[in-house]
Amino acid sequence: MTCLQAVDLKCEHMEQPRGLNSRQPRFTWAVKGDGHNRRQTAYRIVVGTDADAVGQGDGDLWDTGKIASSDSILIPYAGRRLVSDRRIYWAVEVWDEADVQSYLSLASDFWTGLLDQSDWRAAWIARYFVPPEGYEPPADTVYDNPWRARPADYMRSEFSVQRPIRRATLYASALGVYEAYINGERVGDEVLAPGWTDYHTRVEYQLYDVTDLLRSGANAIAAVVGEGWYCGRIGMSPKKAGAHYGGRPVFIAQLHLEYDDGSFATIVTDETWKTSNEAIVYSDLLIGEKYDARLEQPGWSLSGFDDSKWQKVEKWDPIPRAPKLDASRVQPIRKTLELPVQYVGTRASGEMIFDLGQNVAGHLRLSIQAPRGSTFVLRHAEMLTPEGDLYTTNLRDAPQTDVYIAKGQGKEVFEPRFTYHGFQYVGITAPEGVRPDDLELTGIAVHSDTPLTGSFECGQPMVNKLFSNILWSQRDNFISVPTDCPQRNERLGWLADAQIFLRTAGFNMDVAAFFTKWMVDVEDTETDGGFADIAPSKAAYAFITEPPRGAPAWGDAAVIMPWLIYLRYGDKEILERHYPALVRWMDLIERHNPDFIRNNYVNRDYGDWLNIGPATPRPVVNTAYWGHLADLMSRIAHVLGRRTDEARFRSVFRAIQEAFQDKFIDADGRITGDTQTAYLLALYFGLLEGQRKQRAVQHLIRTIDEADGHLQTGFLGVKHLCPVLSDSGAHDRAYALLLKDTYPSWGFSIRHGATTIWERWDGWTPERGFQSPNMNSFNHYAYGAVGEWMFSRVGGIDYDETAPGFRRVRMRPVFNRTLGWCHAEYRSQIGPVISHWVYEGDQVKWNISVPANCSALITLPRGMRLIALNSAATKEAISPVYGGGGLEDDRLELGSGEYVIVVRETMSFDDHSRGLL
Ligand code: BGC
Repeated sequence: MTCLQAVDLKCEHMEQPRGLNSRQPRFTWAVKGDGHNRRQTAYRIVVGTDADAVGQGDGDLWDTGKIASSDSILIPYAGRRLVSDRRIYWAVEVWDEADVQSYLSLASDFWTGLLDQSDWRAAWIARYFVPPEGYEPPADTVYDNPWRARPADYMRSEFSVQRPIRRATLYASALGVYEAYINGERVGDEVLAPGWTDYHTRVEYQLYDVTDLLRSGANAIAAVVGEGWYCGRIGMSPKKAGAHYGGRPVFIAQLHLEYDDGSFATIVTDETWKTSNEAIVYSDLLIGEKYDARLEQPGWSLSGFDDSKWQKVEKWDPIPRAPKLDASRVQPIRKTLELPVQYVGTRASGEMIFDLGQNVAGHLRLSIQAPRGSTFVLRHAEMLTPEGDLYTTNLRDAPQTDVYIAKGQGKEVFEPRFTYHGFQYVGITAPEGVRPDDLELTGIAVHSDTPLTGSFECGQPMVNKLFSNILWSQRDNFISVPTDCPQRNERLGWLADAQIFLRTAGFNMDVAAFFTKWMVDVEDTETDGGFADIAPSKAAYAFITEPPRGAPAWGDAAVIMPWLIYLRYGDKEILERHYPALVRWMDLIERHNPDFIRNNYVNRDYGDWLNIGPATPRPVVNTAYWGHLADLMSRIAHVLGRRTDEARFRSVFRAIQEAFQDKFIDADGRITGDTQTAYLLALYFGLLEGQRKQRAVQHLIRTIDEADGHLQTGFLGVKHLCPVLSDSGAHDRAYALLLKDTYPSWGFSIRHGATTIWERWDGWTPERGFQSPNMNSFNHYAYGAVGEWMFSRVGGIDYDETAPGFRRVRMRPVFNRTLGWCHAEYRSQIGPVISHWVYEGDQVKWNISVPANCSALITLPRGMRLIALNSAATKEAISPVYGGGGLEDDRLELGSGEYVIVVRETMSFDDHSRGLL
C-alpha cells in the first residue's frame, strides 16, 4: 500500500479562483490511495506568496501544522490577512489511518484580486453616441439595421514600460460584453465576459495574468465592447430592447505592473483612451453579428497605430451609483467543443443547408476565400421543415443570423464574438457561384466551462442517447446563468427549470461555483421579501420596473437550490449567506396563507408546466411545494444550529401536512385532481402519513396504467417520477417509463431524431407536426431531470444526506435485465466513485470503486440476494451484516477501495410491484 496523496485541490469550488470575494477562502481536496479502508486522519495546509517555498512546505501566510481531522472539504483560511492583487500558492499533506504522512501535494494557486472597491482607480468609459465634428461614420454601419443595434465599440490606449517586469495583472469588466487585447494579442479565452448579473447591483470582473504579453518600450492596451445582456435585445420584450440596464456599453480596466525592482505602476481606463467603430457592425445575443471585414483597421490594437481619427472616450458616471465590482465566482464561458458540419442540400432560394448533427448553443466558424464585398448570410435553426427549409418560426423574434462581408484578401476566417445561437442547422446564402465545397465550416459549442464530472453508459443505446441529450441541453443552457433555452427570444434564468434540473446537473458537471454565483443573482431579484421567477430579472418584462414575484416552484427554488448544493458539496456557507432571505420568503407565504393551503400570493402560478393530460390543480401543487419548503427550512435551520427556527419550520410543515391531507385527500386516498404529479409531489415531499402513503403509490401506478403506461407529468412532476417509483419499490414501472418510445416519453423524441431535451413532450408529432411556434423549444433541460435517477438508482451513485459533500456515498442501484449492464462514474470532490454492473445469467456482477477518505453505504435492491464477493475486505465488511444469508433491502457500509459483489435475483420486480396493488 502506498501513502495517501492530496489531489484535485480546489479553492472556493474552483481550480484556480482569479479574484476572491472574501478574505477567508475555503480549501477542498480529494485524497488518493490504493487498497481498502484508506482514511485521512490528519492534514496540514501550507499557504504562501512564494511558489517555490510553498512547494517545499514553507508558507509565509499560513501553516496549520498537523491537524487531527478527516475533513477535506471547504476548510476556511485563517492565516495572515490577505491583501489585494496577490497570487497565492497553497499545498496540502495528509496522514493516513496508520499515521503515515503523505508527500506534499502539488501546489495550487489563486489570486486575491481587488478585495476592496476602493482598489478600483479606473474610470468606466464609453463611446459617445454622437461622433465628434469632422468624423463621418461609414454610412452603412451605425444603426443601419431594423433593430437599431449598435456597432461594437473599439477602445485603445498606449503606455510605456521602461524597466523589466516581474508580473502584470489585468483587471477588466464591462457593462456589456468585452474582449481585451494587449499588443494585439487577445487576453484570455473568455467568451461573453463578464457574464450576466443584475448590473444595477453588481458586475463581475475578470483577472488575467498578462506578464508574457508585455514588452519593454511602447505597449498598447485595447478592448472591443458589445451590448450583450446589458443593453442588447435579450428577453421577451422587443419594447425594452437595447435598454434593459443602460443605453450603451461601458468598459473598465486596470493593469497592475510589478517591476523587478519591486516598484509598482497602474494603467487605468480614463478620458485619455480613444474609441472608434470598426468591423463589427452590430453583435447582439439574439440578432446575431454582422461583420464587415472591409472596415477593419489593421493594427488598431498595436502600439504606434495612428488613432488621430478616433474620438475620445467619455467617462461614464453611473447614476445613482456604480455597480459593485465582484470577483468572478464562476468558470468563464468558453468555446469548448468543435463539431463537424455536413452539407444537406441547396434550396430553390439558393440557400445552402448544413447540419451539425447536434443541437448546440454556439456559432459557426466560416473560412472562405472570396472577392471583396462578397456577402455571406448565415441563418441558424434547430429544425428543418418537412420541405427541407430552416424552421425558424419557433425562434419568435430572435433572428440568430450572422452576416459576413469579405475584404477579399486571401483566406478569411469569421467567427462572431458577442452572440450565440441555438441551432443544429445552418442556411448559408453566398454570392453566385460559391459552392458548398468552397465553404470551410466548423460548429463551435460555447458555454460556461463547468468541469465534467459524470459519465453514464448502459446496454440500451436509446438510454445512452437520452443521457447525451440531457448533457447537451445542460451545456447549451448553462451560459453564465442557467437559461431556459438557447434559441428563441427568451434565454432567461427561469428558477423552476433550474431547481428541477439541478440534481441532474450536479452529476454531470461540477456546478458548485456556477450555482453559488447564480444564487447571488437570485437573491438580487428580491424585493419585499419575494424572489422573482427569473434571475437576473430585469430583462424579462416589458413596461414594468419591478418584475413580478415568483410563482410556487419558481420563487421557491431559492430555498431548494442552496439545500441541494449543500447536500452535494457540503457547503454550509451558501445556506448561511441566503438564510435571512429564505426566511423572508417563508414569512411572506405564511402571512398570505394563514390556513396553510397555498391559494394566495401565488403570482403567475404556472402549475405543473406543460404537462400532458389532466392538469394538477394549482392549490395542490402549491401547497405541496410549500410543505417541501417548510421541511427543507427546518433541515437548513438544523444544519445552521438555529434550533428555534428548526422547531418553527417543523411545525409549519406539520400544519401544512395536516391541511393538505384534510383538504385534498378523499376517503379512498385519492388526491384532488388524481394526477400523477399530485401523487408524486405528495409522496416525495413527505406530506402523507400512514396508509395514505401506500394508497398514493397505488393511485400513482393506476394513473400510469390508465395512461397506457405513459407519463403525464409537466416540469414539476417529471423530476420525481422515477425516483418516487423506485423509492416505492416499483422499479419496473420506473424502467418501463425510461425505456418507452411511444408518445409521450423521452424515447419518443429520440425516435424522432432529438439530440437535446425538448421543451414539450409534443414539440413535434407525426400527426400534428410542430407544436405552436409561440413556445416550442427543442432545447429545454427540465424534462432531462430523469438524469438524477439514472445516476442515483440505475448507476447507483448518490450523496448521503447524513454525510453531505460525498463524505459518504450512497450506492443503491436497481439492476435491470433489459439494460443488461450499466457503467456510471461520478468524480465527486472527495474523489471518483465508480459503479459497474452486468447481468450474467441470473446473477449480477457489480464492481464498485470508493475513493479514499470516503465510505459507501450499500443497499441491495429487494429481491436480490448476495451470493459472493471477491475481496477479503468485502467479505469482512459484509459477513456480519449479511451473514451469508440474503438479507434483502439491507445496508452495509464499506470503506474505500474496489469491490466485486455478486448477487442473484430471487424474485422479479414485476412480482414485487404487483404486490403493491
Ligand atoms: C420558459 C419556461 C419557464 C416558463 C414559466 C417559459 O417561457 O421557457 O421554461 O419556466 O416560461 O412558465
